[in-house]
Amino acid sequence: MRFIAKLGVDPVARADPTLLQAMGLPGGGIVRLGDTHVQVVPGDVPGPTVLLVGPRTMANAGLSPGDGVEVTRALLPIAHRVVVADADGLDARRLGRALQGRPVTVGDVAVVRAPRGDEIDEWRLRIVEVEPAPAAVVGPGTAVHETSRQDPPIVPHEGAPPGEPPTTAEALVAGLETEREVLAGWLALLTSPDRLPATWGLPAVAGVLLEGPAGCGRSELVDAAAADVGVRVDEVLLDVVHRPERLLSLLERAVRETKPPAVLYVDHADAVAGTDAPFRTQAAAIFRWFLDAVAERPRFACVVGTASVAGLDPAVADSPLLPRRLVVPPPDTRRRRLLFEAALARVPHRRIDFERLAVRTAGFSATDIAAVVLDATARTTAANEPVTQELLDRALEDIPPSLGSAMLGEVPSYGFERVADLDVVKQRLRETIIWPLTDPDRFRRLGITAPKGLLLWGPPGTGKTFVVRALAHESGAAFFPVKGAELLDKWVGESERAVRELFARAKAVAPSILFLDEIDALAPVRGRSTNSVTDSVVAALLTELDGVADRGDVFVIGATNRKDLVDPALLRPGRLETHLRLGLPPAEARAAFLAISDVPLTDDVDRADLVDATEGYSFADLAGLLREAALHALRRDPEAIEVTSDDVAAALEVFADRRGVSPPRRSPR
Ligand SMILES: Nc1ncnc2c1ncn2[C@@H]1O[C@H](COP(=O)(O)OP(=O)(O)O)[C@@H](O)[C@H]1O
Ligand SMILES: [Mg+2]
Repeated sequence: MRFIAKLGVDPVARADPTLLQAMGLPGGGIVRLGDTHVQVVPGDVPGPTVLLVGPRTMANAGLSPGDGVEVTRALLPIAHRVVVADADGLDARRLGRALQGRPVTVGDVAVVRAPRGDEIDEWRLRIVEVEPAPAAVVGPGTAVHETSRQDPPIVPHEGAPPGEPPTTAEALVAGLETEREVLAGWLALLTSPDRLPATWGLPAVAGVLLEGPAGCGRSELVDAAAADVGVRVDEVLLDVVHRPERLLSLLERAVRETKPPAVLYVDHADAVAGTDAPFRTQAAAIFRWFLDAVAERPRFACVVGTASVAGLDPAVADSPLLPRRLVVPPPDTRRRRLLFEAALARVPHRRIDFERLAVRTAGFSATDIAAVVLDATARTTAANEPVTQELLDRALEDIPPSLGSAMLGEVPSYGFERVADLDVVKQRLRETIIWPLTDPDRFRRLGITAPKGLLLWGPPGTGKTFVVRALAHESGAAFFPVKGAELLDKWVGESERAVRELFARAKAVAPSILFLDEIDALAPVRGRSTNSVTDSVVAALLTELDGVADRGDVFVIGATNRKDLVDPALLRPGRLETHLRLGLPPAEARAAFLAISDVPLTDDVDRADLVDATEGYSFADLAGLLREAALHALRRDPEAIEVTSDDVAAALEVFADRRGVSPPRRSPR
């Protein structure tokens, strides 16, 4: 929610009680404010949208008095450890006590007061490190110490699996065990001394097509597989080839000069044989020749690499000489963790939370991860100064994921602050989705696993879709929303494949949230529908759900107006096991909605009356009512900037009419 920052006193901020209530913080709580976090409490403020902030907090947040600022609720873990600078004369115990209960964010300056001798003195502490996240709350168990005295040890690597950290090349192929095995199998067959394919009367084969985004380990996979079977690899890169003659001479020479047994890795085929490559037709012809030449030559195979097979000329993409296609997916959480460990293995660094880095880097390619580590290293001021979590975090903010937002799904721009009421739902979503992402230890400590699936159900317009979209924003995870009916329409006859691809995409950039809205259309009770296609869609959905339940990292949320129509197999434990009902909003919820609405109502609109008059309205109805009222205001005066009680009365009439003719509302069972 947006506030105007005005000058108050440190360290606690104050805001209007009603607005805090609307944000789901009736008694106050911790919020994110610009670059920092602060405790906010309900208090007397000069205007409903004013946030009173002390000068120190202003500076930490990067604000000046009068600035507008977005305030969002923050979920901070309890700090294990906080390192501060400039605490001369304060011992660890007094430090801890002085910061007790406060949110601290790396980069903040915190002013604390504590006794020095007989007097109370003031310290301006710089917050240098916070664990387990760059922002956390100081609790009774938090170890607070000063940098100069207890410099945390410089560790070569930590959190790596037992043994040596992987090298970059190893890390790049970690998690690709299946692909590596398949590729090694093909290479072994094609380079075997006995010319097995020919002996067995199999059709001639040139090699394998290898598809995967740039910078994700395609060539490392070829190297690893070839090493597994003990053959040499030569590499030809086509991204620098600008003329057909050059392409021909390169490939010709490669075939002529490489001595079998060997593998020729031809990468960036899309650069010359891609759909929009300048001399694509000639390139296709040259490739046809090349593949024939390779297939003819004994103990010789090629691997043709491309970012996407879909963008490749059919002469290459569908060539019978390249019968097998392998896909190198973008790095998932596990691979990203290994990549960070590998990249930092030889860089001096402080304690790093690798799990957190992996979770925060959905959409990062392997090269992006290397760039993050380089960037963090470049930010150290002195040579040999260790890389810290903070530097890595800052580098993360500056380096965009090259696997792009399309891969990441779309993340909405509003969070829970725009969602009125629904406290229980928001809390459950937080527990099941945000906690496992930000603090997986909570569950591990108690020996439980977080549920992987959840169903929201209830009458239309009660905020099911709305709250999940806000959740996607809050969690920062990649978000894949689909409407049941859309998936069926767009992919007639291919819905099962669509389901599988959707899950594959979500898995590839995990952690991610897959949102199956209006799931009753996608997964109706089997046997009951006349359409046998949907039965197999339900079956595909069950398989995929069970798959992600094992692996974790992909949270599946379903929503429906008609829970009774959803196939019950989908709703069992291990699948969409938690069911949350959203009902029509009671009076307080309607009041909360009015309080956070952006529609400016004049003071003569009696909020309490309006709440009474809208008994039985859903949130969608309320939103519609205010829209209607605002339109009425604009009809009255095109320059209107406020909505009066007359406008509201007119809108209520329109709605009363509409509701009069519509059948009485019933909530589904
Ligand atoms: N809790 C809420 N707070 C504020 N606005 C809401 C809330 N719930 C719903 N709305 C409004 O109502 C509209 C319809 O809600 P939606 O989530 O699509 O309903 P459902 O999916 O349950 O049918 C939303 O676009 C939003 O404008
Ligand atoms: Mg909906």
